[in-house]
Amino acid sequence: MDPVRNPFAPGAGTPPPELAGRDELCETVRVAVERVRLGLPTKSILMVGLRGVGKTVLLDRMRDDAEGAGIQTVRVEAPESRSLPALLAPQLRQAMLRLSRNERAKESAQRALRALAGFAKALKVKYQDIEVGLDFEPEPGLADNGDLEHDLQALIEAVGQAAQKAGTALVLFVDELQYVEEDQLAALITALHRAAQRRLPIVLVGAGLPQLRGQMGRAKSYAERLFDIPEIGPLSNADARIALTKPVQAQGVEITEDALRSIVKQTHGYPYFLQEWGKHAWDAAAASPITIGDVQRASLATVAALDESFFRVRFDRLTPLEKKYLRAMAELGPGPHRSGDIAEQLERKVTSLGPTRNKLIAKGMIYSPNPGDTAFTVPLFDEFMHRIMPGHDWKH
Ligand SMILES: Nc1ncnc2c1ncn2[C@@H]1O[C@H](COP(=O)(O)OP(=O)(O)O)[C@@H](O)[C@H]1O
Ligand SMILES: [Mg+2]
Repeated sequence: MDPVRNPFAPGAGTPPPELAGRDELCETVRVAVERVRLGLPTKSILMVGLRGVGKTVLLDRMRDDAEGAGIQTVRVEAPESRSLPALLAPQLRQAMLRLSRNERAKESAQRALRALAGFAKALKVKYQDIEVGLDFEPEPGLADNGDLEHDLQALIEAVGQAAQKAGTALVLFVDELQYVEEDQLAALITALHRAAQRRLPIVLVGAGLPQLRGQMGRAKSYAERLFDIPEIGPLSNADARIALTKPVQAQGVEITEDALRSIVKQTHGYPYFLQEWGKHAWDAAAASPITIGDVQRASLATVAALDESFFRVRFDRLTPLEKKYLRAMAELGPGPHRSGDIAEQLERKVTSLGPTRNKLIAKGMIYSPNPGDTAFTVPLFDEFMHRIMPGHDWKH
Protein backbone atom coordinates (compact mmCIF):
# COMPACT_ATOMS: atom_id res chain seq x y z
CA MET A 1 0.00 0.00 0.00
CA ASP A 2 0.96 3.61 -0.45
CA PRO A 3 4.02 4.16 1.75
CA VAL A 4 3.19 7.85 1.83
CA ARG A 5 0.16 7.09 3.98
CA ASN A 6 1.94 4.58 6.22
CA PRO A 7 0.96 5.75 9.72
CA PHE A 8 3.54 3.86 11.79
CA ALA A 9 6.42 5.65 13.43
CA PRO A 10 9.36 3.53 14.56
CA GLY A 11 12.19 5.58 16.02
CA ALA A 12 13.62 6.67 19.37
CA GLY A 13 11.33 9.34 20.77
CA THR A 14 9.14 9.42 17.63
CA PRO A 15 5.51 9.98 18.69
CA PRO A 16 3.33 6.99 17.77
CA PRO A 17 0.12 7.42 15.74
CA GLU A 18 -1.75 6.00 18.76
CA LEU A 19 -0.29 6.17 22.26
CA ALA A 20 -1.96 2.99 23.46
CA GLY A 21 -2.33 1.79 27.02
CA ARG A 22 -0.85 4.74 28.86
CA ASP A 23 -3.95 6.71 29.86
CA GLU A 24 -3.75 5.74 33.50
CA LEU A 25 -0.16 6.86 33.78
CA CYS A 26 -0.88 10.16 32.06
CA GLU A 27 -3.72 10.68 34.51
CA THR A 28 -1.45 9.93 37.49
CA VAL A 29 0.96 12.58 36.32
CA ARG A 30 -1.82 15.07 35.60
CA VAL A 31 -3.13 14.64 39.14
CA ALA A 32 0.36 14.99 40.63
CA VAL A 33 0.98 18.18 38.68
CA GLU A 34 -2.35 19.73 39.67
CA ARG A 35 -1.79 18.80 43.31
CA VAL A 36 1.63 20.36 43.35
CA ARG A 37 0.21 23.52 41.80
CA LEU A 38 -2.21 23.71 44.74
CA GLY A 39 0.61 23.20 47.23
CA LEU A 40 -0.63 19.74 48.27
CA PRO A 41 1.86 16.98 49.17
CA THR A 42 2.88 15.16 46.02
CA LYS A 43 5.52 12.65 45.06
CA SER A 44 7.79 13.06 42.09
CA ILE A 45 7.36 10.34 39.49
CA LEU A 46 10.04 8.20 37.88
CA MET A 47 9.08 5.91 35.05
CA VAL A 48 11.44 2.99 34.69
CA GLY A 49 11.51 0.48 31.88
CA LEU A 50 13.52 -1.19 29.16
CA ARG A 51 14.53 0.52 25.92
CA GLY A 52 11.74 0.99 23.42
CA VAL A 53 8.77 0.77 25.78
CA GLY A 54 7.83 4.40 25.15
CA LYS A 55 9.26 6.37 28.06
CA THR A 56 10.46 9.29 25.96
CA VAL A 57 7.23 9.73 24.02
CA LEU A 58 5.32 9.55 27.31
CA LEU A 59 7.43 12.32 28.81
CA ASP A 60 6.76 14.46 25.75
CA ARG A 61 3.03 13.78 25.89
CA MET A 62 2.92 14.60 29.60
CA ARG A 63 4.84 17.77 28.98
CA ASP A 64 2.41 18.86 26.25
CA ASP A 65 -0.50 18.14 28.59
CA ALA A 66 1.10 20.15 31.40
CA GLU A 67 1.88 23.12 29.17
CA GLY A 68 -1.67 23.02 27.85
CA ALA A 69 -2.81 23.39 31.45
CA GLY A 70 -0.65 26.46 31.99
CA ILE A 71 2.20 24.73 33.82
CA GLN A 72 5.81 25.81 33.38
CA THR A 73 8.01 22.98 32.20
CA VAL A 74 11.65 22.20 31.71
CA ARG A 75 12.70 19.29 29.51
CA VAL A 76 16.17 17.76 29.52
CA GLU A 77 17.77 14.50 28.53
CA ALA A 78 20.83 13.35 30.43
CA PRO A 79 23.50 12.20 28.01
CA GLU A 80 26.28 9.94 29.20
CA SER A 81 28.87 12.64 29.55
CA ARG A 82 27.34 15.90 30.75
CA SER A 83 26.74 17.11 34.26
CA LEU A 84 23.27 17.65 35.65
CA PRO A 85 23.93 21.29 36.60
CA ALA A 86 25.07 21.98 33.03
CA LEU A 87 21.87 20.46 31.67
CA LEU A 88 19.50 22.18 34.06
CA ALA A 89 20.98 25.69 34.19
CA PRO A 90 20.02 26.94 30.69
CA GLN A 91 16.57 25.37 30.92
CA LEU A 92 15.86 26.85 34.33
CA ARG A 93 17.01 30.21 33.01
CA GLN A 94 14.49 30.04 30.16
CA ALA A 95 11.71 29.15 32.58
CA MET A 96 12.61 32.02 34.90
CA LEU A 97 12.80 34.50 32.03
CA ARG A 98 9.28 33.43 31.05
CA LEU A 99 8.05 33.80 34.62
CA SER A 100 9.70 37.20 34.99
CA ARG A 101 7.20 38.51 32.41
CA ASN A 102 4.45 37.76 34.90
CA GLU A 103 3.85 40.86 37.08
CA ARG A 104 3.21 38.88 40.28
CA ALA A 105 6.22 36.62 39.79
CA LYS A 106 8.65 39.18 38.38
CA GLU A 107 10.58 39.86 41.58
CA SER A 108 10.89 36.22 42.62
CA ALA A 109 11.86 35.15 39.12
CA GLN A 110 14.60 37.76 39.08
CA ARG A 111 15.79 36.49 42.43
CA ALA A 112 15.88 32.98 40.98
CA LEU A 113 17.95 34.32 38.09
CA ARG A 114 20.38 35.80 40.64
CA ALA A 115 20.49 32.40 42.32
CA LEU A 116 21.24 30.88 38.94
CA ALA A 117 24.09 33.33 38.38
CA GLY A 118 25.62 32.42 41.74
CA PHE A 119 25.05 28.76 41.07
CA ALA A 120 26.72 28.81 37.68
CA LYS A 121 29.72 30.86 38.82
CA ALA A 122 30.35 28.84 41.96
CA LEU A 123 29.98 25.44 40.31
CA LYS A 124 31.85 26.25 37.11
CA VAL A 125 35.10 25.15 38.78
CA LYS A 126 33.78 21.65 39.39
CA TYR A 127 31.42 21.32 36.40
CA GLN A 128 33.23 23.01 33.58
CA ASP A 129 30.51 22.17 31.10
CA ILE A 130 28.11 24.72 32.63
CA GLU A 131 27.32 27.27 29.94
CA VAL A 132 24.51 29.68 30.69
CA GLY A 133 23.71 33.29 29.91
CA LEU A 134 23.62 35.43 33.05
CA ASP A 135 20.94 38.10 33.17
CA PHE A 136 21.58 39.40 36.70
CA GLU A 137 24.46 39.73 39.11
CA PRO A 138 24.59 36.99 41.77
CA GLU A 139 23.29 37.79 45.24
CA PRO A 140 26.12 37.01 47.67
CA GLY A 141 25.28 33.95 49.74
CA LEU A 142 22.51 32.76 47.42
CA ALA A 143 23.22 29.35 45.84
CA ASP A 144 26.91 30.22 45.52
CA ASN A 145 28.63 27.88 47.99
CA GLY A 146 30.29 25.81 45.33
CA ASP A 147 28.75 22.68 46.84
CA LEU A 148 26.20 21.11 44.49
CA GLU A 149 23.94 19.66 47.17
CA HIS A 150 23.59 22.99 48.92
CA ASP A 151 23.45 25.21 45.85
CA LEU A 152 20.97 23.12 43.89
CA GLN A 153 18.70 23.11 46.93
CA ALA A 154 18.84 26.91 47.13
CA LEU A 155 18.31 27.29 43.39
CA ILE A 156 15.34 24.91 43.26
CA GLU A 157 13.83 26.72 46.22
CA ALA A 158 14.16 30.12 44.53
CA VAL A 159 12.72 28.71 41.31
CA GLY A 160 9.84 27.09 43.18
CA GLN A 161 9.02 30.37 44.90
CA ALA A 162 8.81 32.12 41.55
CA ALA A 163 6.41 29.48 40.22
CA GLN A 164 4.36 29.82 43.38
CA LYS A 165 4.09 33.58 43.00
CA ALA A 166 2.91 33.11 39.42
CA GLY A 167 0.19 30.73 40.62
CA THR A 168 1.61 27.91 38.55
CA ALA A 169 3.93 24.95 39.05
CA LEU A 170 7.23 24.03 37.50
CA VAL A 171 7.67 20.47 36.30
CA LEU A 172 11.12 19.14 35.49
CA PHE A 173 10.94 16.45 32.81
CA VAL A 174 14.23 14.54 32.79
CA ASP A 175 14.87 11.65 30.43
CA GLU A 176 17.64 9.01 30.68
CA LEU A 177 18.10 9.73 34.38
CA GLN A 178 20.20 6.58 34.79
CA TYR A 179 23.11 8.44 33.21
CA VAL A 180 23.19 11.09 35.97
CA GLU A 181 26.09 10.42 38.35
CA GLU A 182 25.23 9.33 41.82
CA ASP A 183 26.37 12.45 43.71
CA GLN A 184 24.40 14.63 41.29
CA LEU A 185 21.37 12.39 41.63
CA ALA A 186 21.70 12.70 45.41
CA ALA A 187 21.77 16.49 45.15
CA LEU A 188 18.66 16.47 42.98
CA ILE A 189 16.80 14.20 45.41
CA THR A 190 17.72 16.43 48.36
CA ALA A 191 16.63 19.56 46.51
CA LEU A 192 13.27 18.06 45.58
CA HIS A 193 12.80 16.75 49.10
CA ARG A 194 13.41 20.17 50.56
CA ALA A 195 11.05 21.82 48.07
CA ALA A 196 8.37 19.24 48.90
CA GLN A 197 8.75 19.91 52.62
CA ARG A 198 8.20 23.59 51.95
CA ARG A 199 5.21 22.78 49.70
CA LEU A 200 6.75 24.60 46.80
CA PRO A 201 5.12 23.85 43.44
CA ILE A 202 8.02 22.05 41.83
CA VAL A 203 8.11 18.40 40.92
CA LEU A 204 10.14 15.98 38.83
CA VAL A 205 8.79 13.61 36.20
CA GLY A 206 11.69 11.45 35.13
CA ALA A 207 12.37 8.39 33.04
CA GLY A 208 15.18 5.89 32.93
CA LEU A 209 16.31 2.31 32.58
CA PRO A 210 15.46 -0.19 35.33
CA GLN A 211 18.82 0.33 37.10
CA LEU A 212 17.56 3.78 38.07
CA ARG A 213 15.58 2.35 40.96
CA GLY A 214 18.71 1.00 42.64
CA GLN A 215 20.74 4.10 41.80
CA MET A 216 18.16 6.26 43.56
CA GLY A 217 18.29 4.10 46.67
CA ARG A 218 22.08 4.19 46.74
CA ALA A 219 22.16 7.95 46.22
CA LYS A 220 19.73 8.60 49.09
CA SER A 221 18.33 5.85 51.26
CA TYR A 222 14.99 7.63 51.63
CA ALA A 223 14.57 8.16 47.86
CA GLU A 224 12.13 5.29 47.36
CA ARG A 225 9.69 6.85 49.81
CA LEU A 226 9.94 10.20 48.09
CA PHE A 227 9.19 8.99 44.58
CA ASP A 228 6.52 7.07 42.81
CA ILE A 229 8.39 4.62 40.59
CA PRO A 230 5.95 3.07 38.11
CA GLU A 231 7.30 0.42 35.80
CA ILE A 232 6.64 0.90 32.10
CA GLY A 233 6.43 -2.41 30.30
CA PRO A 234 5.20 -3.91 27.06
CA LEU A 235 1.57 -3.28 26.11
CA SER A 236 -1.13 -5.74 27.09
CA ASN A 237 -2.58 -7.88 24.31
CA ALA A 238 -5.61 -5.57 24.01
CA ASP A 239 -3.53 -2.38 23.98
CA ALA A 240 -1.06 -3.78 21.46
CA ARG A 241 -4.00 -4.49 19.13
CA ILE A 242 -5.26 -0.95 19.57
CA ALA A 243 -1.78 0.40 18.78
CA LEU A 244 -2.00 -1.43 15.44
CA THR A 245 -5.66 -1.22 14.43
CA LYS A 246 -6.46 2.41 15.22
CA PRO A 247 -3.78 3.98 13.00
CA VAL A 248 -4.59 1.55 10.18
CA GLN A 249 -8.33 2.16 10.36
CA ALA A 250 -7.79 5.90 10.48
CA GLN A 251 -6.41 5.45 6.93
CA GLY A 252 -9.49 3.44 5.89
CA VAL A 253 -7.54 0.17 5.92
CA GLU A 254 -8.32 -3.09 7.77
CA ILE A 255 -6.04 -5.73 9.24
CA THR A 256 -7.07 -9.37 9.67
CA GLU A 257 -7.34 -11.14 12.99
CA ASP A 258 -4.49 -13.58 12.36
CA ALA A 259 -2.25 -10.79 11.06
CA LEU A 260 -2.83 -8.94 14.31
CA ARG A 261 -2.23 -12.03 16.39
CA SER A 262 1.01 -12.75 14.59
CA ILE A 263 2.40 -9.25 15.10
CA VAL A 264 1.45 -9.15 18.77
CA LYS A 265 3.08 -12.53 19.30
CA GLN A 266 6.34 -11.65 17.57
CA THR A 267 6.66 -8.25 19.24
CA HIS A 268 5.59 -9.41 22.72
CA GLY A 269 3.71 -6.09 22.80
CA TYR A 270 6.88 -3.96 22.88
CA PRO A 271 5.96 -0.56 21.44
CA TYR A 272 9.09 -0.06 19.32
CA PHE A 273 8.63 -3.47 17.71
CA LEU A 274 4.93 -2.85 17.13
CA GLN A 275 5.73 0.28 15.16
CA GLU A 276 8.39 -1.48 13.09
CA TRP A 277 6.21 -4.55 12.35
CA GLY A 278 3.21 -2.37 11.57
CA LYS A 279 5.21 -0.24 9.19
CA HIS A 280 6.63 -3.15 7.20
CA ALA A 281 3.37 -5.10 7.12
CA TRP A 282 1.66 -2.03 5.65
CA ASP A 283 4.36 -1.66 3.00
CA ALA A 284 4.18 -5.38 2.14
CA ALA A 285 0.39 -5.37 1.63
CA ALA A 286 -0.93 -4.78 -1.88
CA ALA A 287 -4.37 -3.72 -0.69
CA SER A 288 -6.63 -3.68 2.37
CA PRO A 289 -6.89 -5.80 4.46
CA ILE A 290 -3.35 -6.43 5.71
CA THR A 291 -3.11 -10.23 5.96
CA ILE A 292 -0.97 -12.79 7.74
CA GLY A 293 0.79 -13.37 4.40
CA ASP A 294 1.80 -9.69 4.33
CA VAL A 295 3.10 -9.95 7.90
CA GLN A 296 5.13 -13.03 7.00
CA ARG A 297 6.57 -11.41 3.88
CA ALA A 298 7.43 -8.32 5.94
CA SER A 299 9.24 -10.25 8.62
CA LEU A 300 12.74 -10.30 7.09
CA ALA A 301 12.64 -6.58 6.35
CA THR A 302 11.35 -5.86 9.85
CA VAL A 303 14.09 -7.77 11.60
CA ALA A 304 16.71 -6.17 9.34
CA ALA A 305 15.35 -2.71 10.11
CA LEU A 306 15.33 -3.40 13.84
CA ASP A 307 18.88 -4.69 13.70
CA GLU A 308 20.03 -1.55 11.90
CA SER A 309 18.09 1.01 13.93
CA PHE A 310 17.28 -0.32 17.34
CA PHE A 311 19.88 -2.93 18.20
CA ARG A 312 22.93 -2.02 16.17
CA VAL A 313 23.47 1.49 17.57
CA ARG A 314 24.01 0.01 21.00
CA PHE A 315 26.14 -2.92 19.85
CA ASP A 316 28.58 -0.74 17.91
CA ARG A 317 29.64 1.13 21.03
CA LEU A 318 30.97 -1.96 22.78
CA THR A 319 34.48 -3.36 23.24
CA PRO A 320 35.20 -6.92 22.06
CA LEU A 321 35.06 -8.26 25.63
CA GLU A 322 31.78 -6.48 26.31
CA LYS A 323 30.32 -8.04 23.16
CA LYS A 324 31.48 -11.47 24.29
CA TYR A 325 29.89 -10.94 27.68
CA LEU A 326 26.54 -10.15 26.08
CA ARG A 327 26.90 -13.07 23.69
CA ALA A 328 27.50 -15.38 26.64
CA MET A 329 24.30 -14.07 28.21
CA ALA A 330 22.44 -14.68 24.95
CA GLU A 331 23.77 -18.22 24.90
CA LEU A 332 21.88 -18.75 28.17
CA GLY A 333 18.61 -17.32 26.79
CA PRO A 334 16.57 -14.15 27.39
CA GLY A 335 17.55 -13.90 31.08
CA PRO A 336 17.96 -12.74 33.77
CA HIS A 337 21.10 -14.80 34.37
CA ARG A 338 23.37 -15.48 37.35
CA SER A 339 26.82 -13.90 37.11
CA GLY A 340 28.33 -17.31 37.80
CA ASP A 341 26.59 -18.89 34.82
CA ILE A 342 27.76 -16.11 32.50
CA ALA A 343 31.33 -16.45 33.75
CA GLU A 344 31.17 -20.19 33.21
CA GLN A 345 30.15 -19.65 29.57
CA LEU A 346 33.24 -17.48 29.16
CA GLU A 347 35.45 -19.86 31.14
CA ARG A 348 36.45 -16.98 33.41
CA LYS A 349 36.14 -16.11 37.09
CA VAL A 350 33.15 -13.99 38.14
CA THR A 351 35.47 -11.47 39.82
CA SER A 352 37.60 -10.99 36.71
CA LEU A 353 34.45 -10.05 34.77
CA GLY A 354 33.25 -7.53 37.35
CA PRO A 355 34.70 -4.48 35.56
CA THR A 356 33.18 -5.57 32.23
CA ARG A 357 29.79 -6.05 33.83
CA ASN A 358 30.02 -2.62 35.50
CA LYS A 359 30.91 -0.93 32.21
CA LEU A 360 27.95 -2.59 30.50
CA ILE A 361 25.69 -1.33 33.28
CA ALA A 362 27.12 2.19 32.95
CA LYS A 363 26.52 2.07 29.19
CA GLY A 364 22.91 1.13 29.85
CA MET A 365 23.16 -2.29 28.16
CA ILE A 366 22.39 -4.50 31.15
CA TYR A 367 21.07 -4.09 34.68
CA SER A 368 20.77 -6.07 37.83
CA PRO A 369 17.14 -6.90 38.64
CA ASN A 370 18.34 -8.63 41.84
CA PRO A 371 21.76 -8.97 43.47
CA GLY A 372 23.87 -11.36 41.40
CA ASP A 373 21.42 -11.36 38.49
CA THR A 374 22.02 -9.72 35.13
CA ALA A 375 19.44 -8.89 32.47
CA PHE A 376 19.39 -7.03 29.15
CA THR A 377 17.91 -3.50 29.11
CA VAL A 378 16.84 -4.04 25.50
CA PRO A 379 13.98 -6.48 24.88
CA LEU A 380 14.79 -9.44 22.59
CA PHE A 381 18.47 -8.50 22.68
CA ASP A 382 19.44 -12.15 23.14
CA GLU A 383 18.00 -12.99 19.71
CA PHE A 384 19.90 -10.09 18.16
CA MET A 385 23.16 -11.29 19.72
CA HIS A 386 22.64 -14.68 18.10
CA ARG A 387 22.10 -13.00 14.73
CA ILE A 388 25.09 -10.69 14.92
CA MET A 389 27.51 -13.21 16.49
CA PRO A 390 26.25 -16.52 15.10
CA GLY A 391 27.75 -19.98 15.50
CA HIS A 392 30.06 -21.36 18.15
CA ASP A 393 33.38 -19.59 17.67
CA TRP A 394 32.32 -16.35 19.38
CA LYS A 395 34.32 -17.38 22.45
CA HIS A 396 37.60 -17.00 20.60
N1 LIG B 1 2.01 3.49 23.97
C1 LIG B 1 2.52 3.29 22.74
N2 LIG B 1 1.77 2.75 21.75
C2 LIG B 1 2.30 2.56 20.53
N3 LIG B 1 3.54 2.88 20.19
C3 LIG B 1 4.36 3.43 21.11
C4 LIG B 1 3.87 3.66 22.43
N4 LIG B 1 4.87 4.20 23.15
C5 LIG B 1 5.93 4.31 22.32
N5 LIG B 1 5.63 3.85 21.09
C6 LIG B 1 6.59 3.79 19.97
O1 LIG B 1 7.72 3.05 20.44
C7 LIG B 1 8.94 3.60 19.98
C8 LIG B 1 9.88 3.84 21.14
O2 LIG B 1 9.42 4.88 21.97
P1 LIG B 1 10.43 5.68 22.95
O3 LIG B 1 9.63 6.68 23.67
O4 LIG B 1 11.62 6.15 22.19
O5 LIG B 1 10.86 4.50 23.95
P2 LIG B 1 11.94 4.57 25.16
O6 LIG B 1 12.18 6.02 25.47
O7 LIG B 1 11.31 3.82 26.29
O8 LIG B 1 13.17 3.87 24.65
C9 LIG B 1 8.56 4.82 19.15
O9 LIG B 1 8.59 4.45 17.79
C10 LIG B 1 7.14 5.14 19.58
O10 LIG B 1 6.40 5.72 18.52
MG1 LIG C 1 13.93 7.09 25.48
